[in-house]
Amino acid sequence: MENKKIRKAIFAGSFDPITNGHLDLINRASKLFDELQIGVLVNPNKKGLFDLEKRVDLIKSCTSHLDNIKVVSFEGLLVNYCKNNGIDTLVRGIRNGADIEYELQMAHMNKELNPDIETIILPTTTKYSFISSSLIKEVLNFDADVKNLVPKEVLKELKKVTNRGKQ
Ligand code: PNS
Repeated sequence: MENKKIRKAIFAGSFDPITNGHLDLINRASKLFDELQIGVLVNPNKKGLFDLEKRVDLIKSCTSHLDNIKVVSFEGLLVNYCKNNGIDTLVRGIRNGADIEYELQMAHMNKELNPDIETIILPTTTKYSFISSSLIKEVLNFDADVKNLVPKEVLKELKKVTNRGKQ
């Protein structure tokens, strides 16, 4: 019998916190691959809200309905992790024109670092196109209600760390 290669991809990001936009992309990308890893990484340019362990736990609970998801966290170059773990595709999402510039730059850099790894860019579903973890953190500072923007598991944790939860 022919040995079929398992197609593995990784959707890496800071996920601080995971949003409904991320979850939509994970649901869609999980159908395209045999295994989709979610890589939770530190982006030094972004302000942290939850520690890595909490972000990983939240993603695990939000994606428990999918059977081909593996949530991981690691340090170092993404392409090196891919090479060491048999992953040949990076999945990223774009919401608008501004994202395209950032994503293309990363895709080209990753291609330069390892030409065997491809980046696949999925456009977000329109209704999620304004959602970003950074903007959620900003409005939370002003006690805004973000229940339509994040999964219920995340909302519960956000309530513990924001003014809204202390009411
Ligand atoms: O959700 P983000 O913060 O836009 O994700 C960016 C992330 C974490 C995917 C990127 O910073 C990354 O890949 N970091 C790992 C280190 C690395 O490989 N850097 C080179 C990227 S071209």
